[in-house]
Amino acid sequence: MCGIVGYVGPQDARDVVLEGLRRLEYRGYDSAGIAVLADGELTTAKKAGKLANLEKVLAERPLPAATTAIGHTRWATHGGPTDRNAHPHVSADGRVAVVHNGIIENFAVLRAECERAGIEFTSETDTEVAGHLLAAAYAEAPEGEGRLAEAMRAVCRRLEGAFTLVATHAAEPGTLVAARRSSPLVVGIGETADGTPEYFLGSDVAAFIGHTRNALELGQDQVVEIDRTRGVTVTDFSGRSVEPTAYTVDWDAAAAEKGGYDWFMLKEIAEQPQAIADTLLGRLGEHGNLVLDEVRLSDQELRDIDKIFVVSCGTSYHAGLIAKYAIEHWTRIPVEVEVASEFRYRDPVLDRSTLVIVISQSGETMDTLMALRHAKEQKARVLAICNANGSTIPRESDAVLYTHAGPEIAVASTKAFLSQIVACYLVGLFLAQVRGMKFEDEIAAIVDDLRKLPDAVARVLESMDEVRALGRSLADAGTVLFLGRHVGFPVALEGALKLKELAYIHAEGFAAGELKHGPIAVIDQGTPVVVIVPSPRSRESVHGKVVSNIQEVRARGARTIVIAEDGDQDVVPYADHLIRVPRTPTLLAPVVTTVPLQVLACEIADTRGYDVDQPRNLAKS
Ligand code: M6R
Repeated sequence: MCGIVGYVGPQDARDVVLEGLRRLEYRGYDSAGIAVLADGELTTAKKAGKLANLEKVLAERPLPAATTAIGHTRWATHGGPTDRNAHPHVSADGRVAVVHNGIIENFAVLRAECERAGIEFTSETDTEVAGHLLAAAYAEAPEGEGRLAEAMRAVCRRLEGAFTLVATHAAEPGTLVAARRSSPLVVGIGETADGTPEYFLGSDVAAFIGHTRNALELGQDQVVEIDRTRGVTVTDFSGRSVEPTAYTVDWDAAAAEKGGYDWFMLKEIAEQPQAIADTLLGRLGEHGNLVLDEVRLSDQELRDIDKIFVVSCGTSYHAGLIAKYAIEHWTRIPVEVEVASEFRYRDPVLDRSTLVIVISQSGETMDTLMALRHAKEQKARVLAICNANGSTIPRESDAVLYTHAGPEIAVASTKAFLSQIVACYLVGLFLAQVRGMKFEDEIAAIVDDLRKLPDAVARVLESMDEVRALGRSLADAGTVLFLGRHVGFPVALEGALKLKELAYIHAEGFAAGELKHGPIAVIDQGTPVVVIVPSPRSRESVHGKVVSNIQEVRARGARTIVIAEDGDQDVVPYADHLIRVPRTPTLLAPVVTTVPLQVLACEIADTRGYDVDQPRNLAKS
């Protein structure tokens, strides 16, 4: 939910941390703050609102230059988005500064304990308690190397919940200590031009990608100390030494910049053909077969599967809904799709022959992570479809298929969504291949269709001017409905979600057949209704039924916005606005029909003057 940055090294730590916060702002923008350690003193600056507010404060009252600093960008949970609640939080003795991502669930008990000891709290956050506890634990820890890390371990053993903590102590220049439980943290290891080592901490690699691509993955319940002279030391919460996993980040700083676009979202929409191509790369064999060597499940395990659950949140959940149509059609294995926040509470029936596919762009969504853990406790096999390398969800899964969409910075998911859908197709087709559910030539034909998707999306993107003009004309809409059938239904849900989250317009997606069971009553003169029309080559009845639905809503005054494939003449008489997409096989069509809906929502939000990349009340993960 929040973004965390830490730096120890020869550069001006203020600049490095602010740059990191800029790159992590998508994780939360309720407030931002920074603490520097210079000449044995901790100094902090923090401000409610976006990072720009903090930067103004720093321009008026600069912090001292330092080589050790921590920073935070917040998505508020405990305590409103105020200056007081902004991180870093400093202990009562002024010696410890701490930033935190996550929720300390037993903070009330710990706070009461600190208050009994005479500590006055200055914020309403759960985080502040960690600062006070750290100061006390530091006082009790043995003097010498590793003292702050020892204090951190002692505190972590008392905390319940999910947390990443990064702390600095006034008596420990050149040292930062961090801990993680069910919340992300990565270490960056770099060196300056003259070969001097430098160390970074970040909620994700975006925090330091401008400096190094060498990263260390940290596991659950681990504490890391980064120190200018001693380097990196990792232990578990009991102090046992741990060997972290090193990896090289496969994207660079340029990938995380806007590249001339007004919004990251626009850039990411434009990157979709490449994202799909990268997701397919190396996975389509030369004989039209699927090559998914990285899926660490044996053929026998895949043959034993008798039920599949797809579990995810938000846009990733919509990818799961689309997956259901494809996987069931190709494999005849029953597929259930669930929002992750519900999954573990209703005691789903899972066993060794159940495959649970968890889908997550960030790999850190707590509900999805908890669903994954529940599935594993029940002995199900878990396959993650994930975009963020080295994140928690793929690490804890039995197998992973990375989407390779590159960094997605805009809060609204676009290229990650399309690549998730494509990854789901790969999984479905691979299962069909392993289980012998399709003839080789049938699989080869679908593989051929998959290869055409990047070009098809590129063609949609070339013809978006009219969609943008339409978006501008819809900026004052009060309600917008989205209708679809078959795979068009999840696309309708996704179109509505994009509009809500970006333009703050009430929008709903419906299975078009459900319309007459109630929702049709909200249609009034001029209500915009977006209809995703299946190919006329899909089951005839589905196409015909959707064309009838368009007539029904139009007869009741709706302004119809119709997304239909090239050559579909049946829709022409009933479309107030017609958006054409290339002919695409029915099951693969969501990859092309989603794109105009992304552009539409982006344009409407922009016209309404909203921050497209950082919508209100939201954060990326
Ligand atoms: O990182 P994840 O894919 O797990 O995130 C899931 C949702 O929070 C995410 O898709 C969210 O709905 C997006 N803001 C939608 O654009």
